[in-house]
Amino acid sequence: MKIEEFEMMRMQCLYEREVEFNLSETTVLPIRVSELLDREDDIERFIANELSYPESEGSHLFRERIAQFYMDCKPENITVTNGGSEANYVTLWTLLEPGSRLAFMIPNYMQGWGLGRAYADGVDAFLLVKHKDGGQYRWALDVESLKRAVTPKTNVILVTNPNNPTGAVLTAAEMDAVVDVARKAGAWLVVDEVYRGAEVQGGTTPSFWGRYEKVVITSCLSKAFGLGGMRTGWVVAPPKLIEEFRVHLDYLTCTPSLLSDHLGTIVMEPQRRESIFSRTRQIIRKNLPPIEEWFLKRDDLFAYVRPEAGAFVYCEYKLSINSTELINRLRVEQSVLLTAGDQHGLDKYIRTGFGLDIEKTLKGLARVEALMRSLK
Ligand SMILES: Cc1ncc(COP(=O)(O)O)c(C=O)c1O
Repeated sequence: MKIEEFEMMRMQCLYEREVEFNLSETTVLPIRVSELLDREDDIERFIANELSYPESEGSHLFRERIAQFYMDCKPENITVTNGGSEANYVTLWTLLEPGSRLAFMIPNYMQGWGLGRAYADGVDAFLLVKHKDGGQYRWALDVESLKRAVTPKTNVILVTNPNNPTGAVLTAAEMDAVVDVARKAGAWLVVDEVYRGAEVQGGTTPSFWGRYEKVVITSCLSKAFGLGGMRTGWVVAPPKLIEEFRVHLDYLTCTPSLLSDHLGTIVMEPQRRESIFSRTRQIIRKNLPPIEEWFLKRDDLFAYVRPEAGAFVYCEYKLSINSTELINRLRVEQSVLLTAGDQHGLDKYIRTGFGLDIEKTLKGLARVEALMRSLK
């Protein structure tokens, strides 16, 4: 089967370790294993693990703790996966089929776009658009575009909330509108919630789980938890669908990693989970102001909109150069890696992460500015 390249991911895999300034990362400073094994006997218990095959769907306690992250959710509603990527992959691989279509939010993390084009008849975009609300711009759901994108052939609607790359969080009314459209079409509503817990203001974003009987949630420990190296994610769905996912996963990875299951069980203990979220939010809330100031001071180059979640900014730039060309030049000429608007479905934007070393990020941005000024 032919599948098109997932351009952003390929670029990151090829270059993130080659450049001096990797600003393409969307998470916060990663947590160390030693920080997770900080209670009595934790290390002994961890190294005493026998490296047998683990339970294929994830251990019962791990799934029980994941279930506690959602209202009215049970371990039978969950299967653990190798990262959010596998969670999205198995979901779309199982649900999409020839003859069906995927309705897909743009801009976005484009994994679902490529999978929709490979496994279904095609993909129909609906939009987040910049909208002025109380004097400030935010990214709002264009409900009319969603209604247009959903047709009798639509089998799955995919929403990323909080969104990558914009950092938008849907309002309660927007969530209701999404559910309403999905219900009228009888379509599966797949919601990628990997940035839930990484809010710029306020508490944890409400989940779509429980709002409609055909909802599937995908999530992971990579982003809001700062644990990308664990390669751990999960899918939340009705038990019958979880069984279908398991049938597919038997052909893919069979099981998640035993060591990640052990660590994941520690991470998802509710008190620990909340303390990790508060660490993530502290980093985001400390790092965003200098980044925001940097963009606002350069309003001849950028039209900045504040993200509502995530450690990244998606910013429109005021130059005629195409975004892929711009980020390629930045990589080659300035050794800075950003992602391009093109790679998220909307040109004339760049995405920059700010969750790692903030001084280094600002130095990288100075190089971005130098090249951009030379193009004015
Ligand atoms: C919205 C979204 N979903 C899924 C993933 C993949 O997550 P993981 O790294 O756990 O595979 C990413 C990674 O950037 C993402 O941004």
